[in-house]
Amino acid sequence: MDAWNSLKTECAGCDRCRLAVDRHSLVFGVGNEHAEVMLIGEGPGEQEDLQGLPFVGPAGQLLDTMLALIDLDRTKVYIANMVKCRPPRNRDPQADEMEACRSWLERQIALVDPKIIVCLGRIAAKGLIDPEFRITRQHGEFFDIAGRRFTATYHPSALLRDPAKRPEAFMDLRAIRQEIRERCTHTYDTQRSGYGAL
Ligand code: URA
Repeated sequence: MDAWNSLKTECAGCDRCRLAVDRHSLVFGVGNEHAEVMLIGEGPGEQEDLQGLPFVGPAGQLLDTMLALIDLDRTKVYIANMVKCRPPRNRDPQADEMEACRSWLERQIALVDPKIIVCLGRIAAKGLIDPEFRITRQHGEFFDIAGRRFTATYHPSALLRDPAKRPEAFMDLRAIRQEIRERCTHTYDTQRSGYGAL
């Protein structure tokens, strides 16, 4: 069995934390397993738990729109979450739940081996960039950690709740696109020249 299949098989029966008890599905992750860009959210919501896929509810629809703005789609990136099982009533995942899930995510990151990791929201940014990360102040900044570039932008759910944040998220996306152009070799390969009016 190859490394991806053994990771998926091991992870499928995970009962390392309390979130396993009520899950309908374990939401492993989706996308291009060789992506240069990986997006990491917080944890599955109701639709994700039902369908077994990340970002398929309302926040996912907005995420697809955000990706399209910089000529990306789910075939070009890999998408995962800090925790693979839905926290009850969509509460924030707790520290011990993220810790229990962390080695699955780390193995996933190692296999994808992305050049750029985009944290979607405060929870992922605190977990992966800096426990003291302040999303309102530090979104859009880039950080070098263990040979990869990390950045964070607002979580799509936050943009649904507060559309006034969207222009800032749009600037973050532009910076991410620039970073991809500078550091990645095949993400935009199949794109035609010209990226619209961004
Ligand atoms: N919010 C997240 O953080 N992740 C999902 O997969 C869906 C909603």
